[in-house]
Order: sequence, then C-alpha cells, then structure tokens
Amino acid sequence: MEGKYIIRWYSMELRAARDGDVDNWKEVILIYSSALKMISTKLEVLNDEFHHVHRYNPIEHIKSRIKTSESIVKKLKKHGYESTIQNMVEHVNDIAGIRVICSFASDIYQIAEILSKQSDIKVISIKDYITNPKPSGYRSYHMLVTVPVYLSDRIVDTKVEIQIRTVAMDFWASLEHKINYKFEGNVPVYIRNELIECSKMVSELDKRMLSLNEEVQMFSKKEE
Ligand code: GTP
Ligand code: MG
Repeated sequence: MEGKYIIRWYSMELRAARDGDVDNWKEVILIYSSALKMISTKLEVLNDEFHHVHRYNPIEHIKSRIKTSESIVKKLKKHGYESTIQNMVEHVNDIAGIRVICSFASDIYQIAEILSKQSDIKVISIKDYITNPKPSGYRSYHMLVTVPVYLSDRIVDTKVEIQIRTVAMDFWASLEHKINYKFEGNVPVYIRNELIECSKMVSELDKRMLSLNEEVQMFSKKEE
C-alpha cells in the first residue's frame, strides 16, 4: 500500500505485512521504551534530590507502561485511522505512559513545573483534571511531553504521557476503572453518583491531609 507500513491483526499481536516492517515496529517500541526510561530517571533524580535537601519524598511511586498493540489498534480504529506505524506515532499520544503517585496535591504542581522547565523536555499539552475534574469525578494532572531519544544515527523526539496524581486520586481512578470494566461502560446511575461523591471526598481528604502536614512541618520547625 504505497510503501506505508500496514499492521495486521494476528492472534492478539501486531505484525507488519512485509518481513522488513517487523523491525520497524520493534524499533518504534524500543524508542518509546527508551523515552519512558529517560522520564523515569528524571523523576527518580528529582525524588532523590528532594530527599537529600528536604528529607522528604514527594513521589510515593512511579508506574510506567507501553500501550499494548491491541489498545493501539483499538484507539486508531476509534478515531478512524488505518492501523499503520505512521498513524500510530502521529495520532496515539499515550503509547509511552507514566503514572507518578504523589503524597500531596502540592507535590503534583511542583513536579510538573520542574519537569517542564528542563531544557530537553517539550510540553505539548497539559490537562489539569484536578482544577477541572472530569464529569465522572476523575482527578489527575496530565502532561503530554516529548523527550529526545539519542540513537546511533539520529535523535527522535518521543511523546510520553505523564499522569500525576495523589495516592487518594489513584485509589479512586483504579476503582472507577474496574467498575467501568465490569459494567462495560454502562454503569448504573446510582453507582456513578456514588463515585462522584467519593471523588469530592477524595478532594476534601487531600486538602485536609495537606494542611495537616503543613501544620506538622511548622511544629517541627519550632522544635528545632
Ligand atoms: P484516552 O483516549 O482515554 O486516552 O483519552 P484522551 O486522549 O481524551 O485523554 P485524557 O487526558 O482524557 O485521558 C487519558 C487517560 O487518563 C486515559 O487513558 C485514562 O488512563 C485516564 N482517564 C481519563 N479519564 C478517566 C476517567 O474518567 N476515569 C479513569 N479511571 N481514568 C481516566
Ligand atoms: Mg489513554
């Protein structure tokens, strides 16, 4: 098909139509994995430095994943694109995804700001679902960035979706995700309403835990 890479569906995995294209698929995934490693390392460095300077870890943990070929094809189909490697690189923004779980909401904005100021990171878009939660009640801070991946013969600016949220927001999002999966999207209204209520409680809990922590910090400063 005019030299384009055509991806076909074979027993739950993507394969290229012509032999040579398999390498191309592998190379693309290698580039995304490398971009994930780079962002993870940046976050670990920040966390270590915070601990060194302030005796405090803003990051509880980090999870990263490469989108499965199944999900990539599903997303391309949903948006009406042919399953080609070119389309996937251009139109699927969350092939490389990283989730950063923080203790407090204030850590989220601090990490986002520090990352976005790093000279090799380009911020493509920001979605602040903490200030503006989704109608579902979903709260999280999303950044789409590119990071340069240095290969032997070229540099590839690679997209990574970074989701930053608190432990409580993450707890909510994973339960909501499970519920959606169970009901295949048709969640009964009373459960949806309960989730919205829980999301408000999550926000309240995050605020109270933050002010509690600030109070304790003041207290320990006075003691010094
Ligand atoms: P996707 O096509 O789902 O990736 O959405 P999008 O391209 O419009 O981007 P958005 O920032 O809205 O969502 C990106 C990701 O955030 C999703 O893939 C989920 O991981 C997460 N997310 C977004 N909305 C919700 C939600 O209502 N509930 C949960 N649990 N997760 C959500
Ligand atoms: Mg997604």
